[in-house]
Amino acid sequence: MYWKALSLLAAAAVSVDAAATLRFSCSQLVVERLDPLVNPGMMPSVHLHQVVGGNSFNASMDPATHNIAEESTCTSCTPTEDFSNYWTAVLFFRARNGTFHRVNTFGNELGFTGASGGQTVYYLSSGKVTAFKPGFRMTVGDPSFRTAQQLNAKYRFMDYTCLDSPMTRGGATTSFPNKQCRAGIMVSIRFPTCWDGKNIDSPDHQSHVAYPRGAACPATHPVAIPQVFYETYWDTRPFNDRALWPADGSQPFVWSFGDKTGYGIHGDYMFGWKGDALQRAMDTNCNSDLFSNRINCPTLKTQTLDQANKCTIKRQINEDLDAWLTELPGGMMVT
Ligand SMILES: *[C@@H]1O[C@H](CO)[C@@H](O)[C@H](O)[C@H]1NC(C)=O
Ligand SMILES: *[C@@H]1O[C@H](CO)[C@@H](O)[C@H](O)[C@H]1NC(C)=O
Repeated sequence: MYWKALSLLAAAAVSVDAAATLRFSCSQLVVERLDPLVNPGMMPSVHLHQVVGGNSFNASMDPATHNIAEESTCTSCTPTEDFSNYWTAVLFFRARNGTFHRVNTFGNELGFTGASGGQTVYYLSSGKVTAFKPGFRMTVGDPSFRTAQQLNAKYRFMDYTCLDSPMTRGGATTSFPNKQCRAGIMVSIRFPTCWDGKNIDSPDHQSHVAYPRGAACPATHPVAIPQVFYETYWDTRPFNDRALWPADGSQPFVWSFGDKTGYGIHGDYMFGWKGDALQRAMDTNCNSDLFSNRINCPTLKTQTLDQANKCTIKRQINEDLDAWLTELPGGMMVT
């Protein structure tokens, strides 16, 4: 996936005068039914999320009144100047008797086995990019989508890898894998790489960004931004017993928003790097080791996975997330 992501970018580049492949671990900050982007102020929000990054994550994070790089006192990511929040929906296993069990995230085994779940975050560039402005946020994907046609017509580069081993790359699908995955399921979510140059958000949280057209950003969204890319490792291994799977041969995983197809895949991003730390890292072509927790980037300060694991926040929504549940949190219907 790592190399595939790079080749996707290489294909989009006119001339490569700078290329950054910043890749790092963000441990689990909290699993919580809050969504300051799509459901600001709602406690609880509509569906459950797994969240990483700065510890000022909360139900309301209006950029007019909140500066997350200033309000956070720690981050679950290894670059210590990154107080951004990154989140996705949560995976559940649905048993034959119709009850649901939450699936945990685990540390990416390419370098981050010591992470207490969470996800791997990449910032990729090929050529000069403009880092995000304070308050910038965006989402990608649509939780209401249930078909490949819907997904392919609007979004690119979001998929599932059925891990046969932690090293498995390739064979990604845009729906949930239809077989047992011996080493878990990796979910990859990549955001668009062009920005309108003006708005830090938009009513749908998406139309201020766009995908490139061929090699270049479109005239409506002329500013190249880093490619934000999430890899989340879901520990589906405890649920690999065939006898637990549906008798009709279908696969048993559902997203916390009720999607049993996988086509509703989506991710949320709130920029929160301190000062110009991200711009510096992109400008100095920083990269990361593929097999260890090391960022080759003298301009960034980093912490160990152990230190990152210590940055967590207390859940505010009081609901049991560890039992066999008769319904998904929030009563989301499975469709
Ligand atoms: C989240 O917001 C609530 C209500 O405004 C506040 O009491 C709480 O301290 C905040 N939590 C964090 C982690 O900032
Ligand atoms: C439902 O199935 C799961 C998995 O087999 C099991 O652990 C759980 O106890 C069952 N719940 C009920 C109410 O039968």
